Amino acid sequence: MSEQQPGPLVAHTPVPVLPVEAQEVVRVDRVSRTFGRGERAVHAVRDVSFTAGRGELVAVRGRSGAGKTTLLNLVGGLDRPDSGRVRVAGHDLGAAGERELLRLRRGTVGFVFQTFGLIPILSAAENVGVPLRLAKVPAAEREERVAVLLELVGLGGQAAQRPYELSGGQQQRVALARALANEPDLLIADEPTGQLDSETGRSIMDLLRAVVHARGMTALVATHDPALIDLADRTLTLRDGHLTTP
Ligand SMILES: Nc1ncnc2c1ncn2[C@@H]1O[C@H](COP(=O)(O)OP(=O)(O)OP(=O)(O)O)[C@@H](O)[C@H]1O
Ligand SMILES: [Mg+2]
Repeated sequence: MSEQQPGPLVAHTPVPVLPVEAQEVVRVDRVSRTFGRGERAVHAVRDVSFTAGRGELVAVRGRSGAGKTTLLNLVGGLDRPDSGRVRVAGHDLGAAGERELLRLRRGTVGFVFQTFGLIPILSAAENVGVPLRLAKVPAAEREERVAVLLELVGLGGQAAQRPYELSGGQQQRVALARALANEPDLLIADEPTGQLDSETGRSIMDLLRAVVHARGMTALVATHDPALIDLADRTLTLRDGHLTTP
C-alpha cells in the first residue's frame, strides 16, 4: 500500500459534524511551568495560550530550550503546570486525579517520541498491541486491529520483525501505529523525525498528516525542521517559553 492512500482504518471514519466546542480538542489557557527556584529558576513555559481543533496538524517550533517538550508534556498530561489551565477533549487536566490522567494518557492521547520508544524484545505487531493489551481488548480483536494499523503505516509485511530488524523510519512507523492504536483524539509527537534523514522524516510527516486529516484527529508536533513545518496547518513558535504572535 502506498503512503498516499491510507488504509481502511483511515478511510472508514467520516468526520462527524460536531458543535464548535467539541471541535476544539486542545485548549491551553495562560499556562506556565517553572523548574527550580530563586536564581536558578528556569521559566520553561510562560503564559502560553492556544487552541487546536479537530483535523488540525499544529507544529510547535523554537530553538533548543525554548520550551517545546515542556509544553507538549503539559498538554499530554505527563506534567502539570504551575498556573493556567489545560483542557484536552473536554477534560480539565488540572482537575483530574492521577488515575484519570493515566486513563487520559492511555486512551485520549497518543504519544510519539524522537527515540521511538519501542520494546526491543517484542515484534512490531506486539509493540503496536501494547496499548490494546493495557485496554484489555480481547486477543482476536487485538490481532485484527494491529494488522489494520500495520497496514496503515505500510508495514503489513514486517509484523513479526523486532525493532532492531527495522530501519529507523520503519521503527517510527511502528511507534506511530502504536500511538494510534487506541484511536486517540490527540496525537503528541516530540521531534518524531529528529533521528531520521530528511527524506524518511518527510515520509513520516506525510503519513502523520494524512492520518490526522482523514480521521479528524488533532496533532501537536514539535520540530526544528522547516521542511516539516511547511506540512503543518498551523505553527506555534516558542521563544524563551513565550508564544510569539505570528
Ligand atoms: N525537568 C526539568 N528540570 C529542570 N529544567 C528543565 C526540566 N525540563 C526542562 N527544563 C528546562 O526548561 C527549558 C525548556 O526545555 P524543553 O525541553 O522544553 O525545551 P525544548 O524546546 O524541547 O528543547 P529541545 O529542542 O532541545 O528539545 C530548558 O531550559 C530546560 O533546561
Ligand atoms: Mg525538546
